[in-house]
Amino acid sequence: MNNQGTAVAPATQVINTPQTGNIFVNAQPWSLTLSDNLRATFVFDREGRPVSCFLNGCNYRFGLSGQVLMKVSRPGAPRFRRLLSADESVQLHATVRDEVARIAAGIAGAISDELQAWLAQVLAWDEARVRVDRERFLRIYRPVSIVPPDQYRALVLQVTEGCSWNRCSFCSFYRDRRFRIKTAAALREHIRQVKDFLGRGISLRRSIFLGDANALIVPQPRLRELFAVIHEEFPAGAEGPSPDLYAFLDIFGAARKSAEQYAELRDYGLRRVYIGLESGDEAVFRLLNKPGSPQQGVEMVAQLKAVGLQVGIILLAGAGGADLARRHVARSLAALSAMELGTGDLVYISPLLVPDDSDYARRARTLGLAPLSAAELTAQLEELKTGARAATGGRPRVALYHIEEWLY
Ligand SMILES: C[S@@+](CC[C@H](N)C(=O)[O-])C[C@H]1O[C@@H](n2cnc3c(N)ncnc32)[C@H](O)[C@@H]1O
Ligand code: SF4
Repeated sequence: MNNQGTAVAPATQVINTPQTGNIFVNAQPWSLTLSDNLRATFVFDREGRPVSCFLNGCNYRFGLSGQVLMKVSRPGAPRFRRLLSADESVQLHATVRDEVARIAAGIAGAISDELQAWLAQVLAWDEARVRVDRERFLRIYRPVSIVPPDQYRALVLQVTEGCSWNRCSFCSFYRDRRFRIKTAAALREHIRQVKDFLGRGISLRRSIFLGDANALIVPQPRLRELFAVIHEEFPAGAEGPSPDLYAFLDIFGAARKSAEQYAELRDYGLRRVYIGLESGDEAVFRLLNKPGSPQQGVEMVAQLKAVGLQVGIILLAGAGGADLARRHVARSLAALSAMELGTGDLVYISPLLVPDDSDYARRARTLGLAPLSAAELTAQLEELKTGARAATGGRPRVALYHIEEWLY
C-alpha cells in the first residue's frame, strides 16, 4: 500500500505484563513503534531496520548509510547534536536489540503472530547484518550530502552525482566528486538496487528527492528519459513513495530552462524546486561565489511559480559577517517579498557553518569582514525568521535549516 494511502492504522495497543509494565505498540504499514513505559521508544521499518529511538534522554536517528545522529534537547540548554563514532553505533545497536529482546519476551503471549514475526525481524539486525547493510549502501549511493528538511523521509535517487558548479566558497558538500548525469539504463539499475536494498522498508519513504545538487540542470531530452524511468519504476499506488518529485537547483541552472520545459516537468510529477538564494545582497552573493544573481533568483522563482511549481528558498544566516549584516538582511527580505511566495512554498534559514580554511573564510578575511558573534547570529536568525514571515504575508512556512542534522 502506498504510504499516502488511507486503509491503514491499526490502533496503538497498550500491553501490560508484570515483567514489562506498560508497553505501547503501534504497528503501521510502514513502521513499528515500541514504547517502554514512555521511558524509551524504538521505531523500525518493515524490514526491522532501526529508524530512530529515544533512550536515556537522548534521541537517535539511524541513517541508511550506517551513520547514527544523536540529538539532545534539554530545557534552557542549546540543542546538542553529533554523529556517533563507529564503536558507539555498534554499542547502541546492541542496546536496542537487548531492549527489544526483553520487551518481545515480556509481551510474547499478548501479541499477534504478525507482530511476533516483525519483532523477530527486528532482532535479526545483529552486528554482522548492520555491517553488511552499510557496505551495501556504500556500493549503491555516493554520499547523500544534504536534502531539504521537509524531505528527510524522501527516497533519494541519485539521478546525477555532485554539483555542476561546485565552486561556491562556503559549500563543501560535493567537493569529493565530479558532476555526472546517469544514463537512463544506469538510473534504472540504481533504482532497482535501491529497491532491493530497502525491501519493504521502502514503504517509509514518502516522496522522491532527485540527487544531488542540481539534478534539474540536466538537458531536457535526457531529463525526460530519466523522469520516464522513475515513473515506470514507481507507478502510482505501488508500495513506496508517491511519485512526487523534488530537487535542488541553483539559480544559474534554473535560468537554462524555459517555462514550457518546467511545465513539462510539472506534468511528470515535479512538485517543488529548492533554490539556494542565500542572500538578496549582491556583495554577499559574490562573496559566496554563487552562480547567477539575486535578481535572477527572483525572476526564476516567478517563472517556476507561473507554471504551478512550488519553491523552497534557502537563506544563509551570518553570510557577509557583521559588516554586511544590515544589507544582507534587508535585501534578502526584499527579495523574498518580491517572490510573492504562497502556501506550499517554503523559506529555510540556514546558519552559515564554515571552517577557517574554507574559501569563504579566506575571502572574508581578505576583505576584513568579521564573522558574527554567537549572540549576533542568534539575533540575525530571529530577524530573518520574523522578517521572512512579514515579507511573505505569513503564507509560506518559514523554518530553520540545520545542515548538521541531516543524515540519510
Ligand atoms: C545543496 S545546497 C544548494 C542547492 C543548489 N545547488 C543551489 O546552489 O541553490 C543546499 C543548501 O545547503 C546550505 N549550505 C551549503 N553549505 C552550507 C554551509 N557551509 N553552511 C550552512 N549552510 C550551507 C545552503 O543554504 C544551500 O543552499
Ligand atoms: S551551493 Fe549549490 S551550486 Fe553552490 S557548490 Fe553547493 S551545491 Fe553547488
